[in-house]
Amino acid sequence: MNNVKKWIDSQDWYQKIKLSNGMITKGHGSVNNRLRYFEGISIEGKTFIDIGCNSGGYCLWAKKNGASRVYGIDIDKKRIEQAIKLKEIENLDIGFEVKSLFDLDLNQKYDIVFCISVLTEVEDVIEGLNIIKNIMNDLAFIELSLTNDKDLKIRKHKKGFSYSININKICEIFGSKFDVQLMGRGERYDMIRVKRIY
Ligand SMILES: C[S@@+](CC[C@H](N)C(=O)[O-])C[C@H]1O[C@@H](n2cnc3c(N)ncnc32)[C@H](O)[C@@H]1O
Repeated sequence: MNNVKKWIDSQDWYQKIKLSNGMITKGHGSVNNRLRYFEGISIEGKTFIDIGCNSGGYCLWAKKNGASRVYGIDIDKKRIEQAIKLKEIENLDIGFEVKSLFDLDLNQKYDIVFCISVLTEVEDVIEGLNIIKNIMNDLAFIELSLTNDKDLKIRKHKKGFSYSININKICEIFGSKFDVQLMGRGERYDMIRVKRIY
């Protein structure tokens, strides 16, 4: 237990994750605060992917809440190493991999897709949304930057550039077989929920 605490304290964290043993990773991105957006959705028996999973906070939550198969990807090797260590501490069966959203296997589908504050870091938000559309069965929660401007508006930031996108453009990308709902302001950007219409 002492070694676990030592390891947690030695790391730098983005996500603040509360573990079953009561220990907390000292990040500023609170996983628990964000989970309020997902209240009322049942994850029991569902397959789940978190794209840009960081240290795996949402994946730990999904597995603890009964998801059947959980997969987290991130381009940052250090974050995936942290996620793997945390799942071992929690003794949970979760697949973590260093991988980009743009390299996902489009034949592999997931009941629930999370993609929180990741499309704000990529240069092709439209391709990112198309990939999510392709891999989702039922439901996706996406936190991204919206604009009232037509279609896209460039955002420059310290990592390069990305785009804010108009909600009508998102509806156009998902098409008539999906319901796109604006859930309001997320922790950092805007939260949308996309649901397949049966
Ligand atoms: C602002 S953090 C958000 C982390 C997490 N989703 C959350 O809400 O706590 C953005 C994360 O997206 C990851 N990321 C950026 N571009 C990515 C890509 N193309 N594919 C997968 N992950 C990516 C970053 O490495 C980082 O961990």
